[in-house]
Amino acid sequence: MSESIIIAFESSCDETSVSVVKNGNEILSNVVASQVESHARFGGVVPEVASRHHVDNMLYVIDEAIQQANIAIEDIDAVAVTKGPGLIGALLIGIQAAKSFAFVHNIPLIGVHHIAGHIHSVQFDYKVDYPAIALVISGGHTELVRMARQDHYEVIGDTQDDAIGEAFDKVARVLKLPYPGGPHMDRLAKEGRHRYDLPRPLMNDGTLNFSFSGLKSAVINLVHNCEQRGDKVIVSDLAYDYHQAVIDILQKKINLAMEHYPETKSLIVAGGVAQNSHIRQALMESSERYDLNILFSRPSLCGDNAAMIGAAAHIKLINNQFESLSLNGQSQLNIEEETAE
Ligand code: KG4
Ligand code: ZN
Repeated sequence: MSESIIIAFESSCDETSVSVVKNGNEILSNVVASQVESHARFGGVVPEVASRHHVDNMLYVIDEAIQQANIAIEDIDAVAVTKGPGLIGALLIGIQAAKSFAFVHNIPLIGVHHIAGHIHSVQFDYKVDYPAIALVISGGHTELVRMARQDHYEVIGDTQDDAIGEAFDKVARVLKLPYPGGPHMDRLAKEGRHRYDLPRPLMNDGTLNFSFSGLKSAVINLVHNCEQRGDKVIVSDLAYDYHQAVIDILQKKINLAMEHYPETKSLIVAGGVAQNSHIRQALMESSERYDLNILFSRPSLCGDNAAMIGAAAHIKLINNQFESLSLNGQSQLNIEEETAE
């Protein structure tokens, strides 16, 4: 099937989102109800609060997505939903809503891996040439995924500790910036220059794995030491040097991945942190030395949203990969299991 209309649900973390996607590459609607303000006062996502907001928002978001798309229920070929990984209580609300929708209207159900969604979000702007490598950088993930085809996933690198966005947010918190801190660090680094020497953990270990906990701790120690000495931390300079460390690590790992897999035709960069202006620019420049296309997720589709779930679901629709109505949420879920036979 190439012509398709999919209604997609995403509720794995703190965004309640429903989208209507045509043919896996056209957004008819993409409604995202963000809870960020509710979580900001806690400095992070509170799972119980997230679940309650999903319940409150879900029906309104479904109605809005269908209205904006201007479609009839009969037009819908499949219902897609994020099945994991994510916060289990949050996931289950999207899954229950999607299953009910599928059951009531007798429409097939498709379960989508959240990371596959982030990766396939680039379909709205590009036709991807495979083999590809995807760098997924978000609040919960830092992964390099090799894809021989659009439905083949091999994790070739992963974080050993904190995710990149989590480290951004924790560093920002020590610098007394609002949650989520990533965008504030991005903005401040534009005014900064080199002042602080920061480590680049695992950068030269010869693997494709990442570690951000040591870098985060180095910043926290630096800030505490400054405070104890009564010195002022120059926040913009620290944000600048933090970015330099992160960018050096990402570039090094991408270079290594390209050495290992020279046949790669596309480098996909997706996930919330892929909105970062410094990372986008640096990766764009460094990719010029390789014969490949670098495909960034559109900034408005980097964060969690249901359109990306609809894009990934289109591939499963073509492959006839459906779920029964007993689909359950999985807080941990390996993307390699999503590889089609
Ligand atoms: O993909 P996402 O919305 O949720 C997860 O699936 O994790 O990513 C959220 C993360 C947060 O850590 C946030 O600080 C980070 O993306 N982020 C950024 C920027 N915009 C969002 N990090 C760095 N620079 C940005 N401009
Ligand atoms: Zn995400």
